[in-house]
Parts: sequence; structure tokens; C-alpha cells
Amino acid sequence: MAQAITREGFVVPPFATPSRLALVERLRASWLPESLRYAYFGSGGSETMDAAIRLARQYAAARGEAGRWKILGRDLSYHGTTVTTLAAGRQTKRRAQLGPLLPDWPTAPACYCLRCPLEKTYPGCAVACVDALEAALVEAGPETVAAVVAEPIGGSTAAALDPPDEYWPRLREICTRHGVLLIADEVMTGFGRTGRNFGVDHFGVVPDILVSGKGLGGGYAPICGLFTHEAIVSALAEAGDELMFFTYGAHTGSCAAADKVLEIMERESLVARAETMGRKLRARLGKLEGHPHVAEIRGRGLMLGVEFVKDRDALEPFAKEDNFTARVVAAGIGEGVFFYPSGIDPARDAIMLGPPLTIGDDEIEAMASGLERALDSAVRYTLGAPG
Ligand SMILES: Cc1ncc(COP(=O)(O)O)c(C=O)c1O
Repeated sequence: MAQAITREGFVVPPFATPSRLALVERLRASWLPESLRYAYFGSGGSETMDAAIRLARQYAAARGEAGRWKILGRDLSYHGTTVTTLAAGRQTKRRAQLGPLLPDWPTAPACYCLRCPLEKTYPGCAVACVDALEAALVEAGPETVAAVVAEPIGGSTAAALDPPDEYWPRLREICTRHGVLLIADEVMTGFGRTGRNFGVDHFGVVPDILVSGKGLGGGYAPICGLFTHEAIVSALAEAGDELMFFTYGAHTGSCAAADKVLEIMERESLVARAETMGRKLRARLGKLEGHPHVAEIRGRGLMLGVEFVKDRDALEPFAKEDNFTARVVAAGIGEGVFFYPSGIDPARDAIMLGPPLTIGDDEIEAMASGLERALDSAVRYTLGAPG
């Protein structure tokens, strides 16, 4: 990073520089779906998802479809904390108080099998939630919708909500049929986290716009990428339009850091490792499967979630005032492990586990046993059980 910054200094984002070119070449060679060859970089997920939403709208306008401006999101989703990204998501806690600022975009039910919003059961449901998404699209008027946005595996709102395999291929087909862009928000799931390069790779789907951050900089530098295909870029260019950048987007130091992070991930096969270690962590967490206050353990690779309930048979949540998740997290810190507090109603109490992809066996044991003790401590504190 220091070398790149010293060599290149500050250059506004639209110019190609050696560190930007090196990163894009690496992404094209080893990481991205073949058709998503065009890249734009922001400094974080919200910024870059905001750019994706603007791009979808600008693309519609460039094609003479000025009536397409809505973004259809899903319940129990989070896409960032700018006005457009909060509007597209349904992280109700983070939207509270901001209502008047947020455009009233359509929303579709979450794909949340544990408490199916349509009160159905998989596989008998035939993934009715994706039909419900299409119904919401039709109701909104597909000719008014620029894009559908979704996380391949839901992250911070409901702790690693993992859809059935049919969901994404059907979502892809619905978007194509209605001429609506599909934006995959892979800010959390991308760059190996789930044991594949990207979450959509589990489902064999290529979105029109893929946004992915977090893992790209490996925590060393702020960077998030937007990747899309040529038709979208050339439509804007032909219309004389452009996707506005942020001053510190594609920052030289961040591009250099990301290039090195990806080089190390390739060299050490860390995506495959996420899958292997994810299986181990999942297996070890299996000991909690019968726990009276664990409703479900879910997720893929090293993005796993655990949902807690007061009564497992009735799926009755703890009372809001119990702040159960906060108690698990606090007790976890006492154990030396930070569990990501997740969960909004109806998935009220849940945590996520997202360790570094370099995690080893001892750390898996520390996480899992730490969670067992943190959970027991939170239960004792909440229900006053003996011991
Ligand atoms: C799926 C998803 N989208 C967007 C964001 C927002 O990213 P940032 O916090 O970098 O702005 C997050 C952050 O957790 C996320 O998980």
C-alpha cells in the first residue's frame, strides 16, 4: 500500500493507474463471472450499493425506459445505510425515524423457511416465496421497476438466511422475463466467505450487477467493488451518461491492498479453506442442535448463523426486554469471542459467526465452546435457571 501510494499519489477514480489495472486484471482472471468484466470501486458497501442502485436507474433511462425507477427489495434484508440503500432494504431498526426520507419502494417476503412468511413448508411449498416476489413485482408494475436487489445468503438482519437451491435460478428467470435488472448484494457473502468466490456461485446464477466488499480488502483497507456487464456500461456511454464516482473510490492504497489480499487468498486456497473449515465449524456447532433455546443453525461456508428462542417447539422468541442476543454477545466477549449480533423481528434473536478464512481447529473449538458457555450464561441470566 505504501509503495503504491508513494508511486502513484492521488489520482481521481476514472483514470486507469497501475494499482487499479492490476486489481481489475486479477479480478477478471480469477474471481469474477466471465460476463461481469466492468468494475467500479467505492470505499464501502453502502456507497457501492448506492452506486448500483443509481446505475440500474441510469441504465433504464439510457434505454429510453424512464418510467423504471423503483427498486424491489425483500423483507429481512440490509443493503447499507445511505438513503437509497436503506430504502431498498428492510432493516427496520436502522430505518426507524428515517421514514419520510425513504422512497416507498415495493418489498417482497423474505425467504425464511424456519418461520415461513407464507406459512408453508419446504419442499412442498415449491419455493412459493419467489412466486410472491414476482407477484410483488407485478403489483408494483414491472415497467416501473429498475432492479430487484437481494443478498444471496441473508446477512446481518437474520443471521445467514440460506435459501433453497431453486430460489436464485428462479429469481434470475423472473428478472429476465420482466426486463428488470438483478443486483446481488454480496457485500458480506463475496470473496470466499461462503466457500465459493461469490454467494451466487452456489446457485449457478450470474446477476446483472454484483456488489462485493468486506473480504475484498480483507479488513486492511476500505474498498468495495461493483461488477457488471458490457451492455449496461455501453448503454450509459451511448447515452452520454456516466456513473458518478466518489473522490476516494478506487483509492490507490485500497486497490493495492485488495490486489495483495486476493493474491494471498489464491496462493493459500482460502476459498476452498472457507468451505472445509466451514464444514468443521458447522459440524462442531451441531452439538447445539438439540439445545432447548436454539431454533436453527444455518448458513454456508464460514458464514453461519444461530437463531435463539425461548421455546423451541413453539418457536416463541424471548421477550424484547430480555435483550437476549446482547446477553449472548456480552458473555461471548467474556469468553474471548465476538459473535455478530444479528436478528430483527420475527428473527428476533440471532448471532452470526464469520471468522477469518485462515481460522484453525483450535479457534473453531474456542468459538464453539465459547458460544455454548455464552448461551448458557445468557439463559441463566434471562430465565434465572439453577446454576
Ligand atoms: C449485505 C450488506 N450490504 C451492504 C452493507 C453495507 O456495507 P458498509 O457497512 O460497508 O457500508 C452491509 C454491511 O454489513 C451488508 O452486510
